[in-house]
Amino acid sequence: MRKASEACIEYNNSGLSILEMSHRSKDYIEVMDKARQLALDVLGVPSGYTAVYLGGGASLGFYITAINMMKQGGKGAYLNTGAWANKAIKEAKKLGGVDVVASSEDKNFNYVPKGYSIPSDADFFHITTNNTIFGTQMHDIPDCNIPLIADMSSDIFSKEIDASKFDIIYAGAQKNLGPAGATLYFVKDEVLGKTGRDIPSMLDLQIHASKDSMFNTPPAFPVFVAMLNLEWMRDFGGVAAIEKRNEAKSSLLYGEIDSNPLFKGVTAVEDRSHMNATFVLNDESLTDRWNGLWTDAGVSGIKGHRSVGGYRASMYNALPLESVQVLVDCMKELERGA
Ligand SMILES: Cc1ncc(COP(=O)(O)O)c(C=O)c1O
Repeated sequence: MRKASEACIEYNNSGLSILEMSHRSKDYIEVMDKARQLALDVLGVPSGYTAVYLGGGASLGFYITAINMMKQGGKGAYLNTGAWANKAIKEAKKLGGVDVVASSEDKNFNYVPKGYSIPSDADFFHITTNNTIFGTQMHDIPDCNIPLIADMSSDIFSKEIDASKFDIIYAGAQKNLGPAGATLYFVKDEVLGKTGRDIPSMLDLQIHASKDSMFNTPPAFPVFVAMLNLEWMRDFGGVAAIEKRNEAKSSLLYGEIDSNPLFKGVTAVEDRSHMNATFVLNDESLTDRWNGLWTDAGVSGIKGHRSVGGYRASMYNALPLESVQVLVDCMKELERGA
């Protein structure tokens, strides 16, 4: 934050703010190149992939990924694990066929479906690795003999992954990477350009990749802050060290949810998200006292999404363990007074 603020006044002794310099300037081209390379390095993405930063959010990514991978007259296979997966399905239907191979809608998405088969005649299989609203996460990535696309908006850079399993990974920056406004795509170069479609230039990943993410003016400031954050991740010990910290945070919180008789977790235990923990109070008459306790302790933003209710504690990379401890102490305090 401090480095980003300083760059708003003047970047790199250039006499210019990062906010006003041309994206074609030498200074900014270096920023973009570094942000792209660091993203590949920090996540351990092998050669043969390109990183690009685009605007439009992950919601545009739903359509972009489908239009770049679904052949004319073809179809995509989708795993429906929640609201965001549903939106991806909706966008793909505008382009062609969609096979929903499995869904957890029957239990309000409180688990990740397993044991489904992936149709080999689909052009790709699309998954959402972390379901932000419902608090589930895919802990095993399915083996797949068609191209695999993953929306990793809410767990990218939170843990080590085998990137070579994926053909496109995309993620809105705003959870673990940087400010809203940039969406990161990792694309396997060899899978692009095979749909037979005339893809509008701004949606064509091959164009953006071939222009080093500078086909048009990029989301310059969000990419700059993502670069700073990637440097921080690298210096922290990389994704392996971040994963350890994230596991410590989530096991502290889930441990309390499971041992405190006043609370109950919402999702299937084996599918619990390390990023978003959803839970409810067993006795709703304690709601006012509970809300007062955590509010007074300085905790904010843990009200559950309206489609789930209860509480959702998001523990993205930037959140320190101490913050989770504050919430856990409030839960213990509620139990003592109950
Ligand atoms: C998993 C997932 N996919 C997609 C989105 C949509 O992202 P955006 O708001 O960047 O379009 C979100 C937003 O929270 C998300 O959590």
